[in-house]
Amino acid sequence: MTRAETAGNEAALTREEKLRQSLNKRYGKRVAAGGRGPGGPGGRAARAASQKGKPEEVRHTIRRLLKYVLQEKARLSGAFVCVLLTTASQLTASYMLRPIINTYIAPADGSRGDPKGLAAALLLMAGIYLAGIGGTYIQSRLLTKVGQNSLKRMREDLFDHMQTLPVKFYDTNTRGDLMSRFTNDIDNVGNMLSSTLISLFTAGLTIIGTVALMLYTNVILTLVTVLAVPLMLTAARKIAAASSRYYSRQQASLGALNGYIEESVTGQKVIKVFNHEDMAREEFGILNGELQKNQMKAQFFSGIMGPVMNFSTQINYTLTAVVGGILCITRGLDIGGLTVFLNYSRMFNRPINEISMTITAVFSALAGAERVFAIMDAQPEPENDADAYRPETVKGDVVITDVSFGYTPEKKVLKHINVYAHPGQKIAFVGSTGAGKTTVMNLLPRFYDIDEGTITIDGVDLKHYDREILRNNITMVLQESHLFSGTIMENIRYGRLDATDEEVIAAAKTASADFFIRHMPLGYHTVIDADGTNLSQGQRQLLNIARAAVSKAPILILDEATSSVDTRTEKMIEKGMDSLMSNRTTFVIAHRLSTVRDANAIMVLENGEIIERGTHEELLEQKGRYYELYTGLKELD
Ligand SMILES: Nc1ncnc2c1ncn2[C@@H]1O[C@H](COP(=O)(O)OP(=O)(O)O)[C@@H](O)[C@H]1O
Ligand SMILES: [Mg+2]
Repeated sequence: MTRAETAGNEAALTREEKLRQSLNKRYGKRVAAGGRGPGGPGGRAARAASQKGKPEEVRHTIRRLLKYVLQEKARLSGAFVCVLLTTASQLTASYMLRPIINTYIAPADGSRGDPKGLAAALLLMAGIYLAGIGGTYIQSRLLTKVGQNSLKRMREDLFDHMQTLPVKFYDTNTRGDLMSRFTNDIDNVGNMLSSTLISLFTAGLTIIGTVALMLYTNVILTLVTVLAVPLMLTAARKIAAASSRYYSRQQASLGALNGYIEESVTGQKVIKVFNHEDMAREEFGILNGELQKNQMKAQFFSGIMGPVMNFSTQINYTLTAVVGGILCITRGLDIGGLTVFLNYSRMFNRPINEISMTITAVFSALAGAERVFAIMDAQPEPENDADAYRPETVKGDVVITDVSFGYTPEKKVLKHINVYAHPGQKIAFVGSTGAGKTTVMNLLPRFYDIDEGTITIDGVDLKHYDREILRNNITMVLQESHLFSGTIMENIRYGRLDATDEEVIAAAKTASADFFIRHMPLGYHTVIDADGTNLSQGQRQLLNIARAAVSKAPILILDEATSSVDTRTEKMIEKGMDSLMSNRTTFVIAHRLSTVRDANAIMVLENGEIIERGTHEELLEQKGRYYELYTGLKELD
């Protein structure tokens, strides 16, 4: 290898390393970060993160899983009875063989067999087996039902909990990873619940039954067979522990990969425009390789479980046979007894093998369950106080006093903000991108809670409001609009579910959306694709404005609501907006300053501080930052 090649290889390595590190930062385990802080009720999640895979934590996860399963006591008891029946029938039928042979086929006294008696005995045996089969059928139906119901409840709980999580949680987790937990991890739990539950149930009883019969046949041989079990279980546990470690990693890698796929599907256009297909492939390759590596190890350990268990079963069997042989010679154990015993020893080992084999499935399910529970442990928005403020009507008198705020403690995004907005007033925020305009608006519906300063509405601190009431009284047109799959009518009605068709149409007219909606193939009943890809960006904004217009909330927030709409349409919306704003407190963020000229007060935000405030005329007179922005932008217009 030449020097140049070596250098090239090193460069490639460091490049890959860099990508890897960056991927780790972006897609590494993040739910824990969004979870509870240390101490208080959050202690457990913090522990979960640090004790992943430790016995105590595993037990805790099992207990939580069992809580879901044990809700079906009636079905579980029914299944238990069936398992009892099945196992008993199997043991009885297998035991019957001995008296059948001894009495009807080859009687010990040397007389001829008894065909009639044999037929009757065989019929009885068949009946017993049939009962067992029926039991198996009912039992598996019941347990499948228990498993599926538990899963359903788990999905419900997960979704319910996700609805309570704060905006911050969604800011810090990729959608793909969350989806992965919803689908893949829950599937793993489901697979275990439906398959393992049955074998664990059956195995336990079979073991107890065979041990009893073995003891009845020969005590010493029983000891030999049973003493090998701890050894086998130790081996199984070692293998299972390794496989559990890799199952956790496998699920985490899968989450990361899904996060990446989700981003590259939604961002496909951007990838194409910037020609980053190669980089995307490379990054995908790394994540994919990571998944493959962890998957392989997980599979390897679950794969060797079978052979290792088979091997130790064989050794155990041989040992039993050898000791049995010695007993035959020295203690006069009869050959028939030994044969029956060896049969039982096989029956005894089978469920132990089965349990060992399913242990890896159990661990993969536990890894999944842990990831699901991690979301359930993420701290929801705090509960409303019992005596939370629940006013009948809100006037919309908003006072922001000396508020400082940062998304992270290190960096303050807002510093000492003071704003007063009386009912019906229109307050505008202007300032360069990143100044903190959207952040101020995020604080009003309490997407984020503040630590410094106070915000009051009608004189009551936001913290004392019932959150639902508060949000009911604020309507927002967000910078990034979102539409749901459904008709246009439904999407606008999302702003107020009891709005009549007429009200929806009136709102659409206010937002100047009526015209384009009528030109859609089915008018208001046109179905919008997910997130409105069959509409232009501007049209989507108009629908969002209409959605706000249909709501009767006394506080209205428009965050660059018309940024993707042409100037003419914007002018038209403004006319409609006047009626919309007339009796509401309105906060407007706009980058076209012409649209905020008539505001009662304009705040000029710079670096999280309000550096100027006043009416349009006052600010122009000051010849400060606003004057600069306004005159500069007017030239651009
Ligand atoms: N969810 C977030 N987490 C962390 N920082 C954020 C978040 N949203 C915005 N920021 C930061 O807050 C600052 C202000 O952002 P923003 O209020 O959106 O500005 P504007 O709306 O004025 O353009 C920016 O520096 C941005 O990086
Ligand atoms: Mg913004």
